[in-house]
Order: sequence, then C-alpha cells, then structure tokens
Amino acid sequence: MNFKNHDIISIYDFSKEDILYILKTAKKMEKRSNPSLLKNNIMATLFFEPSTRTRLSFIAAMEQLGGKVTGFANSKITSIKKGETLWDTAKMVEQYADLIVIRHHLEGSARLAAEASSKPVINGGDGSNQHPTQTLLDLYTIQKSKDTLNNLHVGILGDLKYGRTVHSLAIALSHFNPIFYFISPDALKMPRNYITELREKGIRIYETPNLLSVSKKLDILYVTRIQQERFPDPLEYEKYKGVYRLDSSLTKYVKKDLKIMHPLPRIDEIDKSLDNTPHALYFEQAANGIPVRKALISLVLGKIR
Ligand code: CP
Repeated sequence: MNFKNHDIISIYDFSKEDILYILKTAKKMEKRSNPSLLKNNIMATLFFEPSTRTRLSFIAAMEQLGGKVTGFANSKITSIKKGETLWDTAKMVEQYADLIVIRHHLEGSARLAAEASSKPVINGGDGSNQHPTQTLLDLYTIQKSKDTLNNLHVGILGDLKYGRTVHSLAIALSHFNPIFYFISPDALKMPRNYITELREKGIRIYETPNLLSVSKKLDILYVTRIQQERFPDPLEYEKYKGVYRLDSSLTKYVKKDLKIMHPLPRIDEIDKSLDNTPHALYFEQAANGIPVRKALISLVLGKIR
C-alpha cells in the first residue's frame, strides 16, 4: 500500500503485509528518528471523548519529529457546542492542519470525518467500533516480547462486547493463525459477527467465563476494563463491574512466559501486585504508542516510505 494521504480508520483497511510494514517502520523509528522530519507539518487532535495515552502519545510522536500540534481535548469549548456538525468541523480543520486525529463516541465518526476532509484522518477510537492505532501498538508489543506474531495462544478477557480495542485486535491477529480464548461473562461476549468472521477464516476459538480453565495455555492474556460509558443501562454495568480482578495469585496458574497486556486505563481488573511480576507488559505496551504513532504519522504525511 502507498500510505501517503491514506486515512487510518479501520484495521480492515490493512493487509497482513501492510501491518508488517508498519511494525517494521515503527521498529526503525524506535531505534532512531529524525527530530526535524515533520518540521513543517501540523497535526490536529479532535478529541470528543476523554483520553490520556492516545492523545498524548500522538502529540509526543509529532513533537519528537519536529511537528506542531493544534486541536482540542474537550469539544464543549468548540463551536460544536453551538451546533456545528462533525462534517463541517473536519472541513474547517483541514484548512489548519496536514493531518487529523479524531476520537469520538459515535461509531463511524472517523469515517465521516475522513469523507469530509481532504487531509488524512486517523481514527483514535470511534465508539465501540475500532481503535486501529491501539491495535498496531498491541501487535508491535506482542512481536517485540514474543519475537513472533504467529501461532500464539491469546486470551482476551473482560468486556468483549463494548471494548473496541479487542475487536480490532482479534481481526488483526487473525492474519497470524492464533488460537483465541475469549473470556467474558455471557452478556459481554465477543459480538457474533466477529466470531463468524474468525471461524470462517479457520481460526480456533474457545469461549468461557472462567479464566483459570484456560490460563495455563496462554502466551498472551489481553485484559480489558468493563466499559461503563458504553452500557445503555447503568444497572447492567453494576452487575458486571469488578467481575474479573487479577492479582499476583494468578502467577501460580500461568506459563512462566505469559505476558499480560491491557490497553489501559485499568479500574480494578489488574491489581498492582501484578505490576512488578515478569508477566506485566501493559506499561511497556503504552510506551510503544510513540514509535508506532511516529511511523503512522510519517507514512501518511509521505515523509517516509
Ligand atoms: N488505550 C487508550 O486508548 O487509552 P486512552 O483512552 O487513555 O487514550
């Protein structure tokens, strides 16, 4: 794929080769990157939903490459508050920036912004749908820690219904012949459209509410929080909050080289007692957002190939 001017909206937009190319570019960026590569470029961050890692690591990536940043982290202080549409907002911002990164609570919002803007748009998370740059940094983290993406036993635990990162991750990993263990309460299972698609690709999938029934098989355990903000009924959230609480006692029931990942923020699903074990990979995972986002920004701006 020629990445120049390409929107990054969904993990479905990338072939296996594209994904591997982005990871290879991120590795080069981590080793060494040119601090003035983006010196004449401006990135706009339009964040309609809260974020720590995605927004700040995009900003850090841009600034470390010499670029400038504009945008907002709170749409209440913009003309959206007066009724301006997302379409018009994206149309305006393309006049002020070379690249737009957007996070929004509505599924499909990043695609809409990309249709409005002639400048490349990167999806920083749209509702329960997709979070493709998180997926790319997740893959980068797995590859770095396991030396491969192929044939891994991957457990994905928590809110698999509303957690957008797990949807993108399952689809991306399906290029690499994983065996999946989807661990969740019945009401928060992976949506059936993803299960059907994965099974059609020949991927083996086990679904269970019980982590300990599969924990010894896992190479990677990807934990997610219960996504309070996406539950239509707050009483339903009350039923499931705190349903999984992993702590250092888990280490007796896993392989020595199991790595535990989490897109963060965590609430109570991973206790601090796991942080200093060799299994914890989640902070390193968050740090990997910088080289991966440096690679993506530079590729879509056509500054590297
Ligand atoms: N992983 C992630 O998207 O974190 P933020 O919500 O803090 O951006």
